[in-house]
Amino acid sequence: MNNLNKQWTTEILFNKEQIEEKIKEIAFWVNKEYANSQDLILIGLLKGCIPFLAELMKHIEVPHILDFMIASSYKGGQTSSNNIKIIMDLEQDISNKDVLIVEDIVDSGITLQKIVETLSTRKPRSLKVVTLLDKPEGRKTGFKVDHFGFIAPNKFLVGFGLDVKEKLRNLPYIGVFDKTKFDEC
Ligand code: IMP
Ligand code: MG
Repeated sequence: MNNLNKQWTTEILFNKEQIEEKIKEIAFWVNKEYANSQDLILIGLLKGCIPFLAELMKHIEVPHILDFMIASSYKGGQTSSNNIKIIMDLEQDISNKDVLIVEDIVDSGITLQKIVETLSTRKPRSLKVVTLLDKPEGRKTGFKVDHFGFIAPNKFLVGFGLDVKEKLRNLPYIGVFDKTKFDEC
């Protein structure tokens, strides 16, 4: 089955051209923000960051290295407290480095709050977060991103890195997932 041709969404919010244009603007911000940095590390949060990071890098002019992390959230049953677990940690030592975390979407902010807290203890020179999408209505924390691409509605989105059951990350657009298709993907 060709999953690119199928209609998975009720609405397309951002098409390929709009996403690429926005990412160029984000790269412009990165180039300005880190113009004088000697030690920039981009940290991609796997796996949603992949299409965003790949496109962003093409336009980043500042010398930098890449590293990755996998974090997973588990909802605590009775207590309803969310625990973020680091499944895969960084390879690099980030002390005295300029760290820029690259994320696909910030919703409750719980994941990033925990990651920023953890990475701060390793004494980076600076620590910032850039996200392609920000869902401010979903916030359950006081977490604020340093830079975002698009504001997203409080709906479940798919495509360009965003998944349902680990699928549909390959869609070249970002749209509102059609929940009636849940069993088909
Ligand atoms: P937070 O901890 O609630 O901010 O969750 C952030 C993570 O949840 C993101 O990195 C995504 O992996 C996932 N997520 C949040 N909203 C969506 C969505 O609309 N579609 C797919 N994944 C999402
Ligand atoms: Mg993510």
